Amino acid sequence: MIDYDSELRRHHHAFLRALDVRPRDRALDIGCGAGQTTRDAARIASDGRVLGIDTSESALRNARRLTLAAGLHNVDYLCGDAAQHPLPPASFDLAISRFGTMFFADPVSAFSNIRRTLRPAGRLVMMVWQAAHRNEWAVAIHRALVGDDAASPEPAFGPSPFSLGDVPAVEGILRAAAYSDVEFEEVHEPVYYGRDAESAFRFVCGFSTVMDVVESQPARERERTLERLRDVMDANAARDGVWFDSRAWIIRARCG
Ligand SMILES: C[S@@+](CC[C@H](N)C(=O)[O-])C[C@H]1O[C@@H](n2cnc3c(N)ncnc32)[C@H](O)[C@@H]1O
Repeated sequence: MIDYDSELRRHHHAFLRALDVRPRDRALDIGCGAGQTTRDAARIASDGRVLGIDTSESALRNARRLTLAAGLHNVDYLCGDAAQHPLPPASFDLAISRFGTMFFADPVSAFSNIRRTLRPAGRLVMMVWQAAHRNEWAVAIHRALVGDDAASPEPAFGPSPFSLGDVPAVEGILRAAAYSDVEFEEVHEPVYYGRDAESAFRFVCGFSTVMDVVESQPARERERTLERLRDVMDANAARDGVWFDSRAWIIRARCG
Protein backbone atom coordinates (compact mmCIF):
# COMPACT_ATOMS: atom_id res chain seq x y z
CA MET A 1 0.00 0.00 0.00
CA ILE A 2 1.24 3.49 -0.85
CA ASP A 3 1.52 6.01 1.94
CA TYR A 4 3.17 9.37 2.44
CA ASP A 5 6.49 7.76 3.42
CA SER A 6 6.62 5.79 0.15
CA GLU A 7 5.59 8.85 -1.86
CA LEU A 8 8.49 10.82 -0.37
CA ARG A 9 11.14 8.06 -0.46
CA ARG A 10 13.41 10.22 -2.69
CA HIS A 11 12.95 13.33 -0.51
CA HIS A 12 13.49 11.75 2.86
CA HIS A 13 17.27 11.30 2.75
CA ALA A 14 17.88 14.88 1.62
CA PHE A 15 15.69 16.07 4.49
CA LEU A 16 17.38 13.90 7.14
CA ARG A 17 20.79 15.11 6.01
CA ALA A 18 19.67 18.73 6.18
CA LEU A 19 18.38 18.31 9.75
CA ASP A 20 21.89 17.77 11.07
CA VAL A 21 20.50 16.34 14.32
CA ARG A 22 23.01 16.07 17.20
CA PRO A 23 23.00 13.21 19.75
CA ARG A 24 21.86 15.41 22.67
CA ASP A 25 19.31 17.48 20.72
CA ARG A 26 15.80 18.08 21.93
CA ALA A 27 13.71 18.40 18.78
CA LEU A 28 10.13 19.34 17.92
CA ASP A 29 8.55 17.76 14.79
CA ILE A 30 5.76 20.04 13.56
CA GLY A 31 2.84 18.31 11.81
CA CYS A 32 4.61 15.00 12.39
CA GLY A 33 1.83 12.83 10.89
CA ALA A 34 2.70 9.14 11.24
CA GLY A 35 6.10 10.18 12.57
CA GLN A 36 8.74 8.83 10.18
CA THR A 37 10.83 11.99 10.62
CA THR A 38 10.18 12.03 14.38
CA ARG A 39 11.55 8.51 14.75
CA ASP A 40 14.51 9.06 12.43
CA ALA A 41 15.47 12.23 14.32
CA ALA A 42 15.12 10.32 17.62
CA ARG A 43 17.46 7.57 16.42
CA ILE A 44 20.19 10.19 15.95
CA ALA A 45 19.28 12.18 19.09
CA SER A 46 19.96 9.07 21.14
CA ASP A 47 20.78 11.11 24.28
CA GLY A 48 18.09 13.68 23.54
CA ARG A 49 14.34 13.58 22.96
CA VAL A 50 11.92 14.30 20.13
CA LEU A 51 8.34 15.55 20.45
CA GLY A 52 6.00 15.13 17.49
CA ILE A 53 3.00 17.45 17.42
CA ASP A 54 0.02 17.06 15.10
CA THR A 55 -3.63 18.10 15.03
CA SER A 56 -4.69 14.64 13.82
CA GLU A 57 -5.29 12.10 16.58
CA SER A 58 -5.61 9.27 14.03
CA ALA A 59 -2.17 10.09 12.52
CA LEU A 60 -0.72 10.13 16.05
CA ARG A 61 -2.25 6.72 16.85
CA ASN A 62 -0.33 5.38 13.89
CA ALA A 63 2.82 7.23 14.96
CA ARG A 64 2.63 5.80 18.51
CA ARG A 65 2.11 2.26 17.20
CA LEU A 66 5.10 2.52 14.83
CA THR A 67 7.27 4.07 17.55
CA LEU A 68 6.44 1.29 19.99
CA ALA A 69 7.25 -1.31 17.31
CA ALA A 70 10.58 0.45 16.65
CA GLY A 71 11.46 0.19 20.36
CA LEU A 72 12.24 3.91 20.69
CA HIS A 73 12.02 5.38 24.19
CA ASN A 74 12.98 9.01 23.52
CA VAL A 75 9.89 10.01 21.53
CA ASP A 76 6.69 11.71 22.70
CA TYR A 77 3.63 12.73 20.73
CA LEU A 78 1.19 15.52 21.43
CA CYS A 79 -2.14 16.22 19.79
CA GLY A 80 -2.30 19.98 19.29
CA ASP A 81 -2.04 22.95 16.97
CA ALA A 82 1.63 23.94 16.58
CA ALA A 83 0.52 27.43 15.59
CA GLN A 84 -0.66 28.24 19.09
CA HIS A 85 0.06 25.39 21.49
CA PRO A 86 1.64 26.76 24.70
CA LEU A 87 4.72 24.50 24.58
CA PRO A 88 7.31 25.41 27.22
CA PRO A 89 9.52 28.32 26.09
CA ALA A 90 13.18 27.81 25.09
CA SER A 91 12.92 24.04 25.35
CA PHE A 92 14.06 22.77 21.90
CA ASP A 93 17.37 22.93 20.00
CA LEU A 94 15.71 22.12 16.72
CA ALA A 95 12.26 22.49 15.15
CA ILE A 96 11.75 20.27 12.10
CA SER A 97 8.93 19.64 9.68
CA ARG A 98 8.46 17.60 6.54
CA PHE A 99 5.56 19.26 4.73
CA GLY A 100 3.72 20.08 7.97
CA THR A 101 4.06 23.89 8.14
CA MET A 102 2.16 25.05 5.05
CA PHE A 103 -1.30 25.09 6.58
CA PHE A 104 -1.08 27.93 9.13
CA ALA A 105 -3.85 30.54 8.82
CA ASP A 106 -1.53 33.18 10.31
CA PRO A 107 2.03 32.04 9.47
CA VAL A 108 3.85 34.92 11.22
CA SER A 109 2.04 34.20 14.46
CA ALA A 110 2.54 30.40 14.07
CA PHE A 111 6.27 30.67 13.34
CA SER A 112 6.61 33.12 16.26
CA ASN A 113 5.01 30.55 18.54
CA ILE A 114 7.45 27.92 17.27
CA ARG A 115 10.42 30.28 17.71
CA ARG A 116 9.35 30.92 21.31
CA THR A 117 9.86 27.20 22.03
CA LEU A 118 13.43 27.27 20.62
CA ARG A 119 16.55 27.86 22.68
CA PRO A 120 18.66 30.93 21.80
CA ALA A 121 20.87 28.98 19.34
CA GLY A 122 17.89 26.97 18.07
CA ARG A 123 17.33 26.09 14.43
CA LEU A 124 14.30 25.58 12.19
CA VAL A 125 14.60 23.12 9.26
CA MET A 126 11.53 22.42 7.16
CA MET A 127 10.67 20.94 3.80
CA VAL A 128 7.85 22.59 1.82
CA TRP A 129 6.55 22.41 -1.75
CA GLN A 130 7.60 25.02 -4.26
CA ALA A 131 4.78 26.76 -6.21
CA ALA A 132 2.11 24.43 -7.65
CA HIS A 133 3.01 25.22 -11.29
CA ARG A 134 6.57 23.89 -10.61
CA ASN A 135 5.21 20.53 -9.43
CA GLU A 136 4.23 18.15 -12.24
CA TRP A 137 2.00 16.14 -9.88
CA ALA A 138 0.01 19.25 -8.90
CA VAL A 139 -0.37 20.45 -12.50
CA ALA A 140 -1.43 17.00 -13.76
CA ILE A 141 -4.01 16.50 -11.00
CA HIS A 142 -5.33 20.06 -11.39
CA ARG A 143 -5.79 19.59 -15.17
CA ALA A 144 -7.61 16.30 -14.64
CA LEU A 145 -9.90 17.87 -12.04
CA VAL A 146 -10.82 20.92 -14.15
CA GLY A 147 -10.86 19.04 -17.48
CA ASP A 148 -8.51 21.47 -19.23
CA ASP A 149 -5.15 20.24 -20.57
CA ALA A 150 -3.71 23.76 -20.59
CA ALA A 151 -4.91 24.91 -17.14
CA SER A 152 -2.31 26.10 -14.64
CA PRO A 153 -2.93 25.92 -10.88
CA GLU A 154 -3.60 29.29 -9.27
CA PRO A 155 -0.89 30.83 -7.06
CA ALA A 156 -1.48 29.94 -3.41
CA PHE A 157 -2.96 32.43 -0.97
CA GLY A 158 -3.72 31.26 2.55
CA PRO A 159 -3.20 27.77 3.95
CA SER A 160 -2.41 25.28 1.16
CA PRO A 161 0.35 22.80 0.27
CA PHE A 162 2.00 25.60 -1.75
CA SER A 163 1.71 28.50 0.71
CA LEU A 164 5.46 28.51 1.49
CA GLY A 165 6.66 28.11 -2.10
CA ASP A 166 7.54 31.75 -2.77
CA VAL A 167 11.05 32.67 -1.56
CA PRO A 168 10.56 36.42 -0.86
CA ALA A 169 7.21 35.74 0.87
CA VAL A 170 8.76 33.10 3.15
CA GLU A 171 11.76 35.33 3.93
CA GLY A 172 9.28 38.05 4.95
CA ILE A 173 7.26 35.68 7.14
CA LEU A 174 10.32 34.27 8.92
CA ARG A 175 11.92 37.67 9.42
CA ALA A 176 8.66 39.02 10.84
CA ALA A 177 8.66 36.03 13.21
CA ALA A 178 12.23 37.01 14.31
CA TYR A 179 14.25 34.28 12.56
CA SER A 180 17.57 35.06 10.86
CA ASP A 181 19.94 33.42 8.32
CA VAL A 182 17.08 32.09 6.19
CA GLU A 183 18.41 29.72 3.50
CA PHE A 184 16.71 27.77 0.71
CA GLU A 185 17.96 24.54 -0.85
CA GLU A 186 16.14 23.05 -3.80
CA VAL A 187 15.15 19.38 -3.74
CA HIS A 188 14.28 18.25 -7.25
CA GLU A 189 13.18 14.63 -6.92
CA PRO A 190 10.15 12.77 -8.22
CA VAL A 191 7.28 11.65 -5.99
CA TYR A 192 6.20 8.00 -6.13
CA TYR A 193 2.48 7.24 -6.46
CA GLY A 194 2.45 3.45 -6.71
CA ARG A 195 3.67 0.37 -8.53
CA ASP A 196 1.07 0.70 -11.31
CA ALA A 197 -1.63 3.05 -12.62
CA GLU A 198 -4.40 1.39 -10.59
CA SER A 199 -2.59 1.74 -7.24
CA ALA A 200 -1.61 5.33 -8.14
CA PHE A 201 -5.25 6.12 -8.96
CA ARG A 202 -6.38 4.70 -5.61
CA PHE A 203 -3.66 6.67 -3.80
CA VAL A 204 -4.70 9.97 -5.41
CA CYS A 205 -8.36 9.27 -4.64
CA GLY A 206 -7.29 9.29 -0.97
CA PHE A 207 -6.21 12.97 -1.19
CA SER A 208 -8.89 15.07 0.52
CA THR A 209 -8.07 17.98 -1.84
CA VAL A 210 -8.90 15.72 -4.81
CA MET A 211 -12.02 14.12 -3.40
CA ASP A 212 -13.44 17.45 -2.20
CA VAL A 213 -13.47 18.60 -5.85
CA VAL A 214 -14.71 15.27 -7.25
CA GLU A 215 -17.55 15.06 -4.74
CA SER A 216 -18.68 18.63 -5.47
CA GLN A 217 -19.29 17.73 -9.14
CA PRO A 218 -22.56 16.40 -10.65
CA ALA A 219 -22.53 12.59 -11.14
CA ARG A 220 -21.74 12.58 -14.91
CA GLU A 221 -18.96 15.14 -14.58
CA ARG A 222 -17.57 13.14 -11.64
CA GLU A 223 -17.25 10.03 -13.85
CA ARG A 224 -15.38 12.01 -16.51
CA THR A 225 -13.06 13.50 -13.87
CA LEU A 226 -12.22 10.07 -12.44
CA GLU A 227 -11.59 8.82 -15.98
CA ARG A 228 -9.17 11.72 -16.59
CA LEU A 229 -7.37 10.97 -13.31
CA ARG A 230 -6.98 7.33 -14.40
CA ASP A 231 -5.59 8.50 -17.78
CA VAL A 232 -3.02 10.71 -16.03
CA MET A 233 -1.80 7.79 -13.91
CA ASP A 234 -1.65 5.57 -17.03
CA ALA A 235 0.38 8.20 -18.86
CA ASN A 236 2.93 8.36 -16.02
CA ALA A 237 3.23 4.61 -15.41
CA ALA A 238 6.70 3.26 -16.09
CA ARG A 239 8.32 -0.13 -15.41
CA ASP A 240 9.43 1.00 -11.97
CA GLY A 241 6.05 2.50 -11.01
CA VAL A 242 4.20 5.79 -11.31
CA TRP A 243 6.37 8.86 -10.71
CA PHE A 244 5.76 12.59 -11.07
CA ASP A 245 8.36 15.32 -11.11
CA SER A 246 8.33 17.57 -8.06
CA ARG A 247 10.20 20.53 -6.61
CA ALA A 248 10.50 21.28 -2.93
CA TRP A 249 12.51 23.63 -0.73
CA ILE A 250 14.46 22.76 2.36
CA ILE A 251 14.33 25.96 4.38
CA ARG A 252 16.79 26.58 7.22
CA ALA A 253 16.58 29.45 9.67
CA ARG A 254 18.03 30.43 13.02
CA CYS A 255 16.39 31.69 16.14
CA GLY A 256 16.86 35.44 16.62
C1 LIG B 1 1.36 16.57 4.57
S1 LIG B 1 1.22 15.92 6.19
C2 LIG B 1 2.91 15.60 6.62
C3 LIG B 1 3.04 14.63 7.76
C4 LIG B 1 4.47 14.29 8.18
N1 LIG B 1 5.25 15.47 8.49
C5 LIG B 1 5.18 13.46 7.14
O1 LIG B 1 6.05 13.97 6.45
O2 LIG B 1 4.84 12.26 7.02
C6 LIG B 1 0.88 17.39 7.10
C7 LIG B 1 0.59 17.12 8.56
O3 LIG B 1 0.55 18.37 9.25
C8 LIG B 1 -0.48 18.31 10.21
N2 LIG B 1 -0.82 19.71 10.56
C9 LIG B 1 -1.35 20.65 9.74
N3 LIG B 1 -1.49 21.82 10.40
C10 LIG B 1 -1.01 21.61 11.66
C11 LIG B 1 -0.89 22.44 12.81
N4 LIG B 1 -1.29 23.71 12.80
N5 LIG B 1 -0.36 21.90 13.94
C12 LIG B 1 0.03 20.60 13.97
N6 LIG B 1 -0.09 19.78 12.91
C13 LIG B 1 -0.59 20.27 11.76
C14 LIG B 1 -1.58 17.50 9.54
O4 LIG B 1 -2.49 16.95 10.46
C15 LIG B 1 -0.76 16.45 8.81
O5 LIG B 1 -0.55 15.30 9.61
